[in-house]
Amino acid sequence: MADLSVDLGFLKLKNPVIAASGTFGYGLEFQPLYDLNLLGGFVVKGLYFGPREGNPPPRLAETPCGLINSIGLQGIGVEAFCREVLPPLASLKTALIANICGEDEDEYARVAEYLSQYKGLAALELNISCPNVREGGKCPAQGTEATYRTVKRVRQASSLPLITKLSPNVTDIISIALAAEEAGSQAISLVNTFLALAIDLETRKPKLGHVLGGLSGPAIKPLALRMVFEASRKIKIPVIGLGGIFSAQDALEFMVAGASAVEVGTANFVNPYACPEIIKGMENWADQNGIKRINEIVGTLRV
Ligand code: FUM
Repeated sequence: MADLSVDLGFLKLKNPVIAASGTFGYGLEFQPLYDLNLLGGFVVKGLYFGPREGNPPPRLAETPCGLINSIGLQGIGVEAFCREVLPPLASLKTALIANICGEDEDEYARVAEYLSQYKGLAALELNISCPNVREGGKCPAQGTEATYRTVKRVRQASSLPLITKLSPNVTDIISIALAAEEAGSQAISLVNTFLALAIDLETRKPKLGHVLGGLSGPAIKPLALRMVFEASRKIKIPVIGLGGIFSAQDALEFMVAGASAVEVGTANFVNPYACPEIIKGMENWADQNGIKRINEIVGTLRV
């Protein structure tokens, strides 16, 4: 049987499949469905310091080939997370990753510092790329300087491994990825959602309460693959690829493009068993193709 484990340098995963933030709750919601220890890891919903209600409804709009969300980073905040959620998850044998948010650099640092006091987290995923919390979808990951400053600040506030989640809503993903690397991020996750609009023709109103939202799902896969390919060739730190991964084949394509691991997001809404099914499918593909270790295929696109 193929060895699916991958080593990100700062973190070893038993397989490359991580459930993506915002699609997996706090993990506890999926516990009745399957053993979370099957996963390479999972990322919990974004955490600010305090609780947040998120954006006004409607917050989801389906499109023919994807989903637009405008949740607005609703969450329970770090104190409730560490008090109520972390204890039951801390004994899991899978990588538990906290997605962290902030209104400004100070809050990002406070959240990182607070979480670092607790045992059980394998890494932080720095969310500087949510398109739903600032006017016009703006976020720190759209600028090299803001990316550098935020990563640096969080890096100084916590010794936990740091993955920076980048935005696809940029013209030059390489410069942003390099900024995250230079500021001390140990990996990047790429991509968050594409800024998007859904319209109700009858009312001529936007379908989402917040007007704009972020598009995910199969529609964005080729765009995400392109960005993973471009960024992974220019930076030394590992890339965790995401964007429309619904099958083992999708996940494997991301690895061939240059991703060392993958995150599965929207697929969890369509099929809550998507992650374990993708892991099994990757194992079968590797066995059928004589691949002994899955990490052999990373960045092997023949161009
Ligand atoms: O609106 C949201 O909560 C989405 C978050 C994200 O894309 O990071």
